[in-house]
Amino acid sequence: MNNAQPGILAPLPPHARYLTFALKTGSQPRAQLKWLSGAADGKACVVGIGALLAFALKREIDGLRPFPHYRGEGVEVPSTPAALWCWLRGDDRGETLLRAREMEKTLAPAFEVTSSIDAFKHGRGLDLTGYEDGTENPKGRKAVETAIVNDKRPGFGGASFVAVQQWVHDLDGFAAMPQKQQDDAIGRRKRDNKELASAPESAHVKRTAQESFTPEAFVWRRSMPWADATQVGLNFVAFGKSLDAFDAQLRRMAGAEDGTVDALFTFTRPVTGAYYWCPPVRGKRIDLRAIGL
Ligand code: HEM
Repeated sequence: MNNAQPGILAPLPPHARYLTFALKTGSQPRAQLKWLSGAADGKACVVGIGALLAFALKREIDGLRPFPHYRGEGVEVPSTPAALWCWLRGDDRGETLLRAREMEKTLAPAFEVTSSIDAFKHGRGLDLTGYEDGTENPKGRKAVETAIVNDKRPGFGGASFVAVQQWVHDLDGFAAMPQKQQDDAIGRRKRDNKELASAPESAHVKRTAQESFTPEAFVWRRSMPWADATQVGLNFVAFGKSLDAFDAQLRRMAGAEDGTVDALFTFTRPVTGAYYWCPPVRGKRIDLRAIGL
């Protein structure tokens, strides 16, 4: 699919800013969306449309559904839907910030910013715990098949779905854990990224092993560390040709499948969770025909 938003499959940028927007009460967002479709090229800015926005435009996107909510012992997975999501990607933090400000200002007649997350690439693609993130992402053709919708209908083929969660880490708590407990929580050895066959069932990579689901549950992860003045974490981002694979993984992580909760919850927790549909591109514009624009 050569009409996917190019930022979805591209390598992680050094800097990023994730913006989410709510629709202002009674607003008519068509003019702002038309501007956005030209201003965002899908590469320096990846755009996602929430079900709330599609609904406001009296359109429904097949497969776009509400984000699930889980609550259990030591686990709270919130569902925080939003109308619009923009992943601004750049080489320069200042330039990325200024682009975000322009976007916020231009969209303001119809959209209200609900979060703005300053994110960055750490080392060769590490989480702030020091573990490499993205190792088992599908490669080459398989990445495209995993992430991008194959559909002949104009405006639909080349699209993608994305699950986004902001996770807040307790880095001090994590650092206080003995090395073996850290490795067992992830299921890989921090020192050399080797997968640990002996890790407990709660180990994150055992919970989410993509081949272990029926059907197999592959996702295209594009998460980035984030930080503000007082907190740090990972902005988890997973693209898929549908939301089914992510759904199955999250369900198992939360313990809803077999009662075993992912050990990630011992040192980090999600504070947001939302699904979006990422339209294809047409030329250098975001193709919004599926939502009637
Ligand atoms: C703070 C949150 C998270 C952190 C720090 C984290 C970190 C990691 C790390 C270090 C790995 C091992 C290397 C790799 O293959 O990438 C991994 C693997 C993986 N994670 Fe996460 N992850 C987080 C959240 C999630 C969530 C919410 C999901 C999906 C619901 C998920 C799905 C996966 C998958 C599918 C793999 C690869 C499993 C395999 O097939 O081996 N992760 N994660």
